[in-house]
Amino acid sequence: MESSVRIEQALSAAIDLAKQPGCPPRLYEAMRHAVFPAGARLRPRLCLAVALSCGETDLRIPMTAAVAIELLHCASLVHDDLPCFDDADTRRGRPSVHRAFGEALAVLTGDALIVQAFQVLARMPPTARLGSVLASVSAGVGTPWGIVAGQAWECEPTVDVAQYHRLKTGALFAAATMAGAAAAGVDPGPWRALGDGIGEAFQVADDIRDATSTAEEMGKPAGRDLALDRPSVVRELGLEGAIGRLDRLIGEVGETIPTCPGAAELHNLIRVEARRLLPAKLAQRAA
Ligand code: IPE
Ligand code: IPE
Ligand code: MG
Ligand code: MG
Repeated sequence: MESSVRIEQALSAAIDLAKQPGCPPRLYEAMRHAVFPAGARLRPRLCLAVALSCGETDLRIPMTAAVAIELLHCASLVHDDLPCFDDADTRRGRPSVHRAFGEALAVLTGDALIVQAFQVLARMPPTARLGSVLASVSAGVGTPWGIVAGQAWECEPTVDVAQYHRLKTGALFAAATMAGAAAAGVDPGPWRALGDGIGEAFQVADDIRDATSTAEEMGKPAGRDLALDRPSVVRELGLEGAIGRLDRLIGEVGETIPTCPGAAELHNLIRVEARRLLPAKLAQRAA
């Protein structure tokens, strides 16, 4: 079975853990709304690809890590869209969770998805790898260097854009590569640089899309970085400078893949995915 189909099935089963008598029905519905239909599912696919590259053929433990990471990502989007953060009415082409279910339930939906991610990890088949997977995943979302810290930089008077991006976005990509390695029984440390590099490239591409794409093309509001006075690579370097940086980052990222049985396949996969990061109308300029 295609790994993308398996990811959807595993995510659905994870959300259905909340569908028990006594669970408020609208909370369950809002959790499903936050997770389905799928976005790009980049982080869980990266986590599984790393585990495979490390030589793991049994995907049960890597899939548990991949699902937890995607639930945390979806939670971060629910909270990021709230009026007190980016005040975004749409996400993945549909009303954001607070627009569909109200603000109070959106806060709780984000909270529930975060907790659900760790409940999923707790249900992992018994393995000595759990501690290492847990450490990799949790480091990507909390403090001092995870999503929470990254988003909190928006509340500081001065911000270093590279640090802000590394924490709000890069940290979860690093969690994906490191948890993939940990789930395969491999030391996750050497896999951090790959996740950081992919995360940095991804956030530069997101800043470029925010500045150049329409809301219809993205399924979420456009031009938010300028409107919200957010640090952005396009604002820092201009569009051409940002495209140049993205091109350089994509070129460099393959060099950070640690020695492993599937390094060549992983390098190819990353190259194919990276080409999709830039809007088609700008892709030629970066070539
Ligand atoms: C959006 O991430 C949030 C950022 C970190 C910029 P994605 O573009 O991966 O979102 P989905 O999951 O595909 O919707
Ligand atoms: C979102 O960053 C990062 C997190 C959710 C942690 P952005 O605010 O730049 O992403 P979009 O544009 O809303 O997806
Ligand atoms: Mg934001
Ligand atoms: Mg946002």
